Amino acid sequence: MNAPVKSFDALPRFASPLKAIESLKPTEPLYLVHPGAFAVAARQFLDGFPGDVLYAVKANPHPIALTQLWNAGIRHFDTASLGEIEAVRSLLPDAICHFMAPVRLPGQAKAAFEIYGVTDFVVDGEAELDKLLAETGNAKKLRVFVRLVASLGGALLELSSKYGCRPEEAAKLLKRIKAAGAAPCLTFHVGSQCLSPFSYAQAIEIAQQAIRLSGVEIAALDIGGGFPTAYVGQEPPPPHWYFDMIRTALDNLSVKNVPVMCEPGRALVGQGISLVTQVVMRRGDRLYLNDGIYGSFDEQRFASFEADYPPTAIALDAKGKARALTGEKRPFRAYGPTCDSADVLPRPIMVADSIATGDFVLFDAMGAYTVSSRSAFNGYYPDSWAVIG
Ligand SMILES: Cc1ncc(COP(=O)(O)O)c(C=O)c1O
Repeated sequence: MNAPVKSFDALPRFASPLKAIESLKPTEPLYLVHPGAFAVAARQFLDGFPGDVLYAVKANPHPIALTQLWNAGIRHFDTASLGEIEAVRSLLPDAICHFMAPVRLPGQAKAAFEIYGVTDFVVDGEAELDKLLAETGNAKKLRVFVRLVASLGGALLELSSKYGCRPEEAAKLLKRIKAAGAAPCLTFHVGSQCLSPFSYAQAIEIAQQAIRLSGVEIAALDIGGGFPTAYVGQEPPPPHWYFDMIRTALDNLSVKNVPVMCEPGRALVGQGISLVTQVVMRRGDRLYLNDGIYGSFDEQRFASFEADYPPTAIALDAKGKARALTGEKRPFRAYGPTCDSADVLPRPIMVADSIATGDFVLFDAMGAYTVSSRSAFNGYYPDSWAVIG
C-alpha cells in the first residue's frame, strides 16, 4: 500500500499526454491520471446498476484512484484485507467498507468489526464461518455472504478455483448463518474482464439454486466484480447490456426486491490512468522500455490474460514538439528494464516502425492491476505522476 503521494493538486497538470511528454521528457515511467475517465466510469455504475456499487480496492488502491472515485460519488468499498480497510478509512473517514475476502488472517475480522464497524463479511466454508462468529461475537449485527463457485468461462481471469462453494454447501452455510442470528446473503465472482453479460445471469441462476436448496430467504445478493474495460481489439459490450441482463435475472429470482451490490474494480479504474514509458534502447525489432513485467505490466504474466494496453509511439521533433509517430506499424518485442529474461511482454506491441531509442510509448487503459501490483524488483519502481485535463 502506498503512502499518500504529494497532494493531487500539487501534481503537474497538462492538456494532453503529448504536452506532458513534451514538457517533462520523462526518463522514468510516468502515470497520467485522467479525472474525466474516472468520473465517467463511476457515473455509469452509479446510474445504471440497480444497487450499491462497491469499488474493489485491490484493482488500484492508490490514494489518487480512491480520491477520484470518492469525488465521483463512490461511497462503498470492497476491502479484502485489514490493510485495505485501514488505507481507505485513513484517507476517506466516511467510506463504508465491506470485508469481501472469504478467508481472512486470524484477528482481521475482529479488528474490522470492532475498530472500523465493518459488518459485511464473506465465507465459503464452515471453518471460516466459525472463526468469523467467534471473532466478532455479535452475529446479529452481521451480514454474512456465502461465496458461490461461478465457473462460467466468460472471463479472461477465472476467480472460482480458489474460493467459492457449490450450491449444496452454500445451502448448509446459509442455514447455519440464519440460525446464528446473522443475515444470510450470497455472492459470487464471474471472473475478471468478463466479456459475456450472460455470465451474470447464469451466476444468479446458481444463487437461485442455493436459495432453493436452503429454503432461506437471503437478505442481500452481491454479484461481485468482473465488468470489463477496453483493451487492444477488445471493445467490451456496453455497461447497460450487463445491467439489463442482471436486472432481468434478478426479476426472475424467487426472493423479490432483494438488495443487490456489485464490486467492480477494473471497470471503474481501467481507463483512468495511462502510462508513458521511454524506449531506453531499440535493437532491431526489440524495444527495451523503462517499465515491464515487474512494474506496471505485472498482469501480463497471466497466460489467460490475453489483453494488451493500447500503445502509441511518440517522438520529440527537432523543435522539441511531441508527436505521435504515424508511419507503418510493425510488431516489436517489448522488454522491461530488469535483468530478468522473463521481463518481456508476452505478445509483441504494434507501433510505428520509425520508433527509435529515446522515443516514448504511451500505453492507455492502465488503471487496473498495474499500480497495485508493481514491485521494486531490481531497483525499478514506477511512481511519477501527472494529471491530464
Ligand atoms: C472478491 C472480489 N471482488 C471484486 C474483484 C474485482 O474484480 P474486477 O476487477 O474484475 O471487477 C475481485 C478481483 O479479484 C475479487 O476477488
